Amino acid sequence: MFNRTKVGKYHLLVCGTTPCMIRGSREIEDTLLKHLGVKRNEVTKDGMFCVGEMECMGCCVNAPMITVADYSKGSESYSYNYYEDVTPKRVVEIVEMLRRGEAPPVGTQNPERIRSGPAGGNTTLLGEPKPPPCRDLDAC
Ligand code: FES
Repeated sequence: MFNRTKVGKYHLLVCGTTPCMIRGSREIEDTLLKHLGVKRNEVTKDGMFCVGEMECMGCCVNAPMITVADYSKGSESYSYNYYEDVTPKRVVEIVEMLRRGEAPPVGTQNPERIRSGPAGGNTTLLGEPKPPPCRDLDAC
């Protein structure tokens, strides 16, 4: 995962580990490569983007995910931004937002989820939990 060649201003890193792969990371990578017209680790002609692979970034519950290493403010003040629950359509939207200088919202890209919560909201543990039964100390 060392960058041995020049990378783009935005280095798009697709998680290639098993949970993300099962959830479609190969399709995500193929979509990015096709949309940008590059091969893996090749930089676009305008120097803006390149696509690479990274191993598990700890967001497996929100697979598939990509990280964008953002060097738009220089290599000394880069940031890593995580985009989770991505789809082929959504990664193209993220790329186009970055191209326009916009900051796509990080985190889950599924509007039905709050962070790592279930899509569509909770289905269990909906009320306040009952307190544990207490022993009647006066009865001792
Ligand atoms: S497998 Fe992709 S974040 Fe863990």
